[in-house]
Amino acid sequence: MKKIIVCGGRPLNGKISVGGSKNAALPILFACILTNGISKIVNMPDIGDVRVAIEIIRAFGAKVDRFGDTVYIDTRNLSYVRPNPEHVSSIRASTYLIGSCLSRFGECDILPFGGCNFSLRPIDMHIDACISLGAQLDGEKIVAPRLRGAEINFNKASVGATVNAILLAASAEGQTVIDGCAIEPHIDALIDFLNSCGAQIVRECRRISIVGKRLHGGNTRIIGDMIEAGSYLALGLLCGGDLKALDSPIEDMHSVFDAFLRLGASVVAEAGELSVKMIRSKPLFISASPYPGFPTDLQPIFAPLMAKKCGGEIIDEVWPERFGYLHSLSDLGIRWNLNGNRATIYFSEIHCGKTAAPDLRGGMACLMAALCSSGQSEIYSAEVILRGYENLEQKLCAIGADIKIEDI
Ligand code: UD1
Repeated sequence: MKKIIVCGGRPLNGKISVGGSKNAALPILFACILTNGISKIVNMPDIGDVRVAIEIIRAFGAKVDRFGDTVYIDTRNLSYVRPNPEHVSSIRASTYLIGSCLSRFGECDILPFGGCNFSLRPIDMHIDACISLGAQLDGEKIVAPRLRGAEINFNKASVGATVNAILLAASAEGQTVIDGCAIEPHIDALIDFLNSCGAQIVRECRRISIVGKRLHGGNTRIIGDMIEAGSYLALGLLCGGDLKALDSPIEDMHSVFDAFLRLGASVVAEAGELSVKMIRSKPLFISASPYPGFPTDLQPIFAPLMAKKCGGEIIDEVWPERFGYLHSLSDLGIRWNLNGNRATIYFSEIHCGKTAAPDLRGGMACLMAALCSSGQSEIYSAEVILRGYENLEQKLCAIGADIKIEDI
């Protein structure tokens, strides 16, 4: 267990670098299981979820070496072993074991796949995709002696189910067409990596066509993390000062920029440096929806910003119940009301206090609220925040924050 001690109320100044995207890195790591060879992956974030994913693939016999932000993964000698349930239950991306293990080994245990518990997180679409390609449920396992290409129709855009369908089809026999797929930038990042491994995958709008191939090792650079970038930009507005985010995936962030503009800020992107400045704040309405909509992972991050400025409303169409974090924000003075899937955030006197991080992004929202209020705050269960933010203490202290992360 960890806690973050925050002495808040300081402006944040300078440049903060944005690392590789968590949600791009994780499917690519699990996709290595499909390949037979050595892959080189650059800009791999060193965050909790990535460390767990690497432990999971090492257990199958993968050789994983990290040099700075570059990771080499040798998957020439793999064999199936039941994954460690503790690892599997700590990250959501462990669901990608279903597609990758069925493809490589013809079997996968159905385990308590984990991640943030902000809502029930069903895997029915993942299982349906497996069954479409010829897999069968067998007790607590799913098995497929051979996978054959098929037509898959998703009736909602699911990142995880789209990733698994790609992993299943990439080396299945014949052709697969996936309709209704998610189109997040990390879906294209996975496709690019698999194509570098010899796959034949093309995405056009919400349709992905795949011809199954034998895959060798590949090369890729993990795209920048738009959620980390959006978090730091919001933090800069919240705390004041002159903060610039480096290495942001600017082209993926239109919906985020639009939210900053509607909040009354200006967004400046110059020579790869991104900054937002408040001009005249206005109440903000956010409706989180699948890409290219406003990302659900950033709606908790915008809640303290709304509370500090003019208030606003949040609807989440992806995870309608993703508002548990508001209870933790109450400990820091943020006032809100929840009516079904609509949260009203009131202008609030945010103050220091003690609270617990409820999940990764909700925990970051608590840390942000603590950073913008004078006095000492303590955020407990902080390890959950480190699942998705790299070198958090060093990065924030370098721009003028006063935080210390301690083991408890
Ligand atoms: C991924 C991200 C998470 C992000 C989410 C939405 C990772 C590791 N996690 O989660 O950070 O919040 O995308 O952008 O990349 N659904 C079903 N049945 C299924 C699967 C999903 O009904 O079998 C529904 C979910 O309940 C949800 C919606 O589809 O309402 C979207 O979920 P999905 O995109 O699958 O989220 P994850 O892949 O779990």
